[in-house]
Amino acid sequence: MKVNISGMEEKNGKKSQAIIEVIDFGPLKITGNFLLKDLQRNKEESPAEVNLCRCGKSGNKPYCDESHKK
Ligand code: FES
Repeated sequence: MKVNISGMEEKNGKKSQAIIEVIDFGPLKITGNFLLKDLQRNKEESPAEVNLCRCGKSGNKPYCDESHKK
């Protein structure tokens, strides 16, 4: 499922700031307006899109490096 960021879903009168999408046998894909903090909480990023590993195989955690496909 692909979601257009400008078409954020509105539910109960509240507009989403980010969409978290569970990819089948893959990462969590997050798109939208959000803040990503590192483990020490001293670095922040505001990427428009990120894929976070949920299989545990990535060599670049917390990001997905496509190792789940191997
Ligand atoms: S989900 Fe892609 S490497 Fe883990």
